[in-house]
Amino acid sequence: MSGHDGLRAVVTGGASGIGAEVVKQLTSAGASVLAADLDTDGLATLARTTGCATATVDVADPAGNENLIDAAVDAFAGLDLVFLNAGVLDRRREDMSDPFRVADLDMDRYDVVRGVLFDAVVHGTIAATRAMAPAGGGSIVATASAAGLVPWHPTPIYSAAKHAVVGWVRAIAPALERDGVRINAICPGGVATPLIGMTADAAETIDRLLAPAQVAEAMIATALDQGTGQAISVVAGRHPLAQVHDFNEIPGFP
Ligand SMILES: NC(=O)c1ccc[n+]([C@@H]2O[C@H](COP(=O)([O-])OP(=O)(O)OC[C@H]3O[C@@H](n4cnc5c(N)ncnc54)[C@H](O)[C@@H]3O)[C@@H](O)[C@H]2O)c1
Repeated sequence: MSGHDGLRAVVTGGASGIGAEVVKQLTSAGASVLAADLDTDGLATLARTTGCATATVDVADPAGNENLIDAAVDAFAGLDLVFLNAGVLDRRREDMSDPFRVADLDMDRYDVVRGVLFDAVVHGTIAATRAMAPAGGGSIVATASAAGLVPWHPTPIYSAAKHAVVGWVRAIAPALERDGVRINAICPGGVATPLIGMTADAAETIDRLLAPAQVAEAMIATALDQGTGQAISVVAGRHPLAQVHDFNEIPGFP
């Protein structure tokens, strides 16, 4: 990838996995990037290797999103691309081989997961649009999941929150388009990242896993593309890797 000189971007969940790859690919192509995360040490390491700016932010906090976007606009004199990517799981990885039971539900955890996976995308969308619209527009990519297109039974709250991200992107897109802002959801299958207890090289040996770099490429291409309101699946082993997901219509609605 090359030729992103002058582009200005924010990446949440930028300290690790897919987000860190987006930061690496954008900075190596000349973009200015502000990486945001709760993981201050991870951000510091990334800043040393990529030259990105960093912000320690809890994206589940609405004010955190406003402050983050303001910081990017101040640092870069504007903003073009926003990747709303931070994520957590709703169950401990070590429990995931056991089927989910309703008795496993932890409602405190529910609030955290919904806050990071869904509320953060809503607040991030609004903050980014307020900043980008007066300057002519921009592009938002929310990291949803293939589990936001089909149910993923081991983590029902995660799966439901990712469906909500896809629903938000599709429902809000026309309103943002009037402000010159595009928004799309990227929906990866399994990706070799710390979220699922994997290092990136696991994708070389496990067929069904993507490397984070593959997802990052699809996210950047989506951000720079012309479409809006799309859910784009990115699943290992398919050609092309990134495909616009088709939804069934309901005749008579709306
Ligand atoms: N790894 C997969 O298999 C997979 C598949 C589909 C979708 N996704 C999604 O991709 C996105 C990136 O995940 P990843 O796989 O790179 O995981 P990761 O764990 O490597 O990275 C997620 C990052 O989000 C940060 N984060 C968590 N809560 C935060 C908060 N409240 N505020 C700020 N930052 C916070 C973490 O500190 C971490 O650095 C997530 O939205 C995830 O749900 C991952």
